[in-house]
Amino acid sequence: MQEKQSIHGAWANRWIFILAATGSAVGLGNIWKFPYITGENGGGAFVLMYLFCILLVGVPIMMAEVFIGRRSRQSPINAMRDLAIESGRSPNWSLVGIMGVLAGFMIFSFYSVVAGWVLHYIALMGSGDMVGVGVEQAGEIFNGLLADWQTLLIWHTVFVVMVIAVVAGGVNKGLERATRIMMPALFVLLLVMLGYSMSTDGFAQGFDFLFHFDPSELSGEAVLVALGHAFFTLSLGMGSIMAYGSYMPKKAKIGSTVLTIAAMDTIVALIAGLAIFPIVFANSMDPGAGPGLMFVTLPVAFGQMPGGQIFGFLFFVLVGVAAWTSAISLIEPAAAFMVEKFGLKRLPACIILGLLVWGLGITCLGAFNFMSDFTLFGKNMFDLLDYATANIMLPLGGIFIAVFAGWFVKQHASKEELGLSDGVYKLWYVLVRFVAPIAVGIVFCLNL
Ligand code: TRP
Repeated sequence: MQEKQSIHGAWANRWIFILAATGSAVGLGNIWKFPYITGENGGGAFVLMYLFCILLVGVPIMMAEVFIGRRSRQSPINAMRDLAIESGRSPNWSLVGIMGVLAGFMIFSFYSVVAGWVLHYIALMGSGDMVGVGVEQAGEIFNGLLADWQTLLIWHTVFVVMVIAVVAGGVNKGLERATRIMMPALFVLLLVMLGYSMSTDGFAQGFDFLFHFDPSELSGEAVLVALGHAFFTLSLGMGSIMAYGSYMPKKAKIGSTVLTIAAMDTIVALIAGLAIFPIVFANSMDPGAGPGLMFVTLPVAFGQMPGGQIFGFLFFVLVGVAAWTSAISLIEPAAAFMVEKFGLKRLPACIILGLLVWGLGITCLGAFNFMSDFTLFGKNMFDLLDYATANIMLPLGGIFIAVFAGWFVKQHASKEELGLSDGVYKLWYVLVRFVAPIAVGIVFCLNL
């Protein structure tokens, strides 16, 4: 087969792909969400389930996404369609891509609100206003922010503009350039934070909370959350990684590349846990405090330490950068699709998308104030979009992708594209055909 090129561009080399995909994977999911859902679901047992889900379900599905993207060199909607046609299947597989684009909008809308909190905290920490705050005061400051819809709206708007500006620049001048600058900064900042957390009194207790396995703490709900989070944190189930895969060099090996990305993502989540829980325990806070966990615990800790103003500022910059490189990948599949389908230039396509997600995001930030009474299925908009995407749409998208790659794509196509040795290919094949769909199916059914 003649080698195809993407009309959108290509990553300069394998490492840029790894960094870009890691940039997509490492985000608020790792630093904000993972610690607080671990806290809500009891700690070690949950973490172990999450690790299983990453390895047995996440990695094989990520390989499937990358190879589908790279083989077709198109945005996920068209990639699913073309590969289905190549294997003599129904073009309606593109529906999986459409559901993905929708999920991307939904995730973006609450993601951008949380990223807005982060931007606000960059300013707060940098200003020195948080020096010496106590637990109660930090809680009041956070709740005060949630109640103040104008401030939330400003930061939400700033974040949408930041993301759209990068995506409008395209693969090389936008995504790749951002990756080259932001990812190294992210790693340096993370190491600084880990060093600090290891020096706190609560480190042993925090470590124990994360890694102490007590099976009695595992509920069916916790397993669903762990599975949903495995998809969320690896950016799977909606086409982000598929889109990034479509810009991946042909020579690069998919297996080792995907393992590297999954490993880096997992390490960052664990480091974030190790940075946050020691502080929680050292200050006798509640690990199950929910979405506010990071925003209440960390300012207290930074407020007490020498140089805390600088470190606190740097930490929130780190989270902001991580959120930025992730949010880019939530929009890229839709942007690439609009360019392919309607022949639009990047900029107008991105402006349209930006307005859509900005509008939907307002319903999420309103959930904390002017729309707090509005509920659907017993949840406010923020919780609803989070729950519907992480716990339903992403796992469902993941099953479809696994079933498609394992049962519908011709075996010679997946074999050729993945380029694995026979034994490893067989392992992947079993995981993607049976283990991943069945595991996701069981967890789903148990929770209905
Ligand atoms: N993985 C990112 C995080 O952990 C969020 C994200 C980016 C994402 N793209 C995605 C989640 C696609 C699900 C699907 O913060």
